[in-house]
Amino acid sequence: MRQPLAYDNVDRVVDAIPLPEGITLRSARDDDWPAMRRLAATCFGSFRDPDTLTTWRSMSPREGVILGCDGTDIVGMCMLLDLELTVPGGRQLPTAGVTWVAVAPTHRRRGLLRAMFTGLHQRIVQAQYPIAGLLASEATIYGRFGYGPATTETALSIERRHARLHPEVPTIGGVRVVDPAEHRDHLADIWERWRRRTPGGLRTPPQLWDEVLADRASARHGGSPLFCLLHDDGFVMYRTHDAEAGKSVEVTKFTAVTGDARLALWQTLLGLDLMHTITVGTHPADPLPHLLADPRQACTVSSEDALWLRIVDVPMVLAARRYSHDVSTVIEVSDAEFHGGGRYALIIRDGQARCVPSDESPEVRLDLSVLGSIYLGAHRPSAFAAVHRLHCDKPDLLRHLDLAFSWEAPAELGFGF
Ligand SMILES: CC(C)(COP(=O)(O)OP(=O)(O)OC[C@H]1O[C@@H](n2cnc3c(N)ncnc32)[C@H](O)[C@@H]1OP(=O)(O)O)[C@@H](O)C(=O)NCCC(=O)NCCS
Repeated sequence: MRQPLAYDNVDRVVDAIPLPEGITLRSARDDDWPAMRRLAATCFGSFRDPDTLTTWRSMSPREGVILGCDGTDIVGMCMLLDLELTVPGGRQLPTAGVTWVAVAPTHRRRGLLRAMFTGLHQRIVQAQYPIAGLLASEATIYGRFGYGPATTETALSIERRHARLHPEVPTIGGVRVVDPAEHRDHLADIWERWRRRTPGGLRTPPQLWDEVLADRASARHGGSPLFCLLHDDGFVMYRTHDAEAGKSVEVTKFTAVTGDARLALWQTLLGLDLMHTITVGTHPADPLPHLLADPRQACTVSSEDALWLRIVDVPMVLAARRYSHDVSTVIEVSDAEFHGGGRYALIIRDGQARCVPSDESPEVRLDLSVLGSIYLGAHRPSAFAAVHRLHCDKPDLLRHLDLAFSWEAPAELGFGF
């Protein structure tokens, strides 16, 4: 059971952190939010809709925001969201979602992020979150804090006018064109089924559905209101955009619980005759190219880290997921910044792991950020061994680790936060 954070504990924790000169840390108060919104807009380049902000704020636990102040000015902030993450095998872990990380351009590179993060991660431990996750604006910031990229988002673009279905693919059907707001329960049910089986899936609280379906003009980025295609086991939400080259479809959410639902939804999307291109964010193993007579019509336009994970409670988190192969070894996990990690015996039998502290000499050594990267099965231990970021002298053991950590369902980020 997670512990609620108490004011006196929080103050004690924050007091103990070395701070840049002239800076104090404290929790956010209700009247801080307008200044926080301005700081975020300055750092990220655009203002968030106040109602959208209220939605995200409602997902933050009490004492979930740390501010860095210079006198009365708020010059830094970071925030926790109370999330629930699906791991391979379907268990869901309470997860600290770290977001709204910003330091004013007047106060950068003096150690304010490090100070706020030290406080925030003490709170994460105090509140007994076993794992923390974030999305990184730049891939060079968070490795030092024990976070590793754990899912990859691949953006595909399809020249719809040239895309033909492969002749062996059967026609499925069963798709309706609907108003998404009128089918909220159906969409939420499909999403719930999908996120419970997908590593990286996140529980979506009702207020986040309200936010998506409010379909605010500020969320459209010049595109149309949301369109929705609905199947019993899947849905697509998309916007259209006008460009000189013709109309394009931007898929904002593609969720399919079954292979047939995925097929039926793609057949419908590819039937949007007057649309020139379709773009979609997906995982690297998406079978979409095999659906097409010419698989080159599904072009990868980008491939980027999405969810980053920091494993806070190593034994608990390693025991929480299921595995695809037996392994027995001793691992040593380093965590230079926040002194997590440790040395553990890891015994995996019949898909289930036991992980206990050990004094034996380790066969595998790796940084906590690397453990975060391999945890959901999106990256192989041997890929890190190849660049000397995971150390293991036994090729057979490395092969077994690759097999053990792989998983049948590809990892995907549930939603951006
Ligand atoms: C990223 C940001 C929060 C860093 O804040 P900061 O107070 O300047 O960071 P710190 O001085 O505490 O730096 C801590 C460490 O991170 C490194 N670091 C900080 N920002 C970095 C960046 N953008 N790229 C690479 N390294 C970075 C520092 O060099 C320092 O390294 P060290 O381990 O060698 O000491 C700040 O630059 C910012 O607000 N950027 C714009 C908004 C943004 O991108 N936020 C992150 C959203 S995910």
